[in-house]
Amino acid sequence: DITRFFICFSGTNLQALIEQAKRPSSSAEIVLVISNRPGVEGLRRASLAGIQTRVVDHKLYGSRAEFDGTIDRVLAEFRVELVCLAGFMRILTGTFVKKWSGRLLNIHPSLLPSFKGVNAQKQALQAGVRVSGCTVHFVAEEVDAGAIIVQEAVPVLPDDTEESLCDRIRQAEHRAFPGALELVASGAVRLGEDGHILWKETC
Ligand code: GRF
Repeated sequence: DITRFFICFSGTNLQALIEQAKRPSSSAEIVLVISNRPGVEGLRRASLAGIQTRVVDHKLYGSRAEFDGTIDRVLAEFRVELVCLAGFMRILTGTFVKKWSGRLLNIHPSLLPSFKGVNAQKQALQAGVRVSGCTVHFVAEEVDAGAIIVQEAVPVLPDDTEESLCDRIRQAEHRAFPGALELVASGAVRLGEDGHILWKETC
């Protein structure tokens, strides 16, 4: 429903990434925010932070390939090196995912591989788990799969509603996503040829 939509998709992860990138120690600079919907909060947050924005409205494209092709062209135009999907609810084509392999990050509101797909918080409540959380991972062709970069666990409390669990997981997301971005942007973590994470040796 509309309320939940606004509660759960208001660009708060984007905001956490913006804050991270502003730090002098950050290895990442956010050069562009793309939305597939006009007028969303994330675009406003980006503009307020002085970041360029583009809307690529999926409704104006006849196929996923054309939509993804346009996104790819915009990313090239801005010389983007790394893409973070923060509340981006469109499935990207295999061509796009392959091209951006190792440079495409997603956040999901569960401890993957549990509760893939939509309504992850609801799935967790229905399963009766006592712990859930969030996962930042490299995007692979299979939805909500791909090498895991960072996870943070949160408790599931007896009186939790979807909303209260969503809020608790979101707090964890705001730590996990900036953390994962820094790990990848700094080169501390990368995706190996075999699809597994490679950590840079520090000694
Ligand atoms: C987050 O729960 C994220 O895990 C999911 O979409 C939601 C986006 O929230 N992919 P927000 O728009 O960043 O507040």
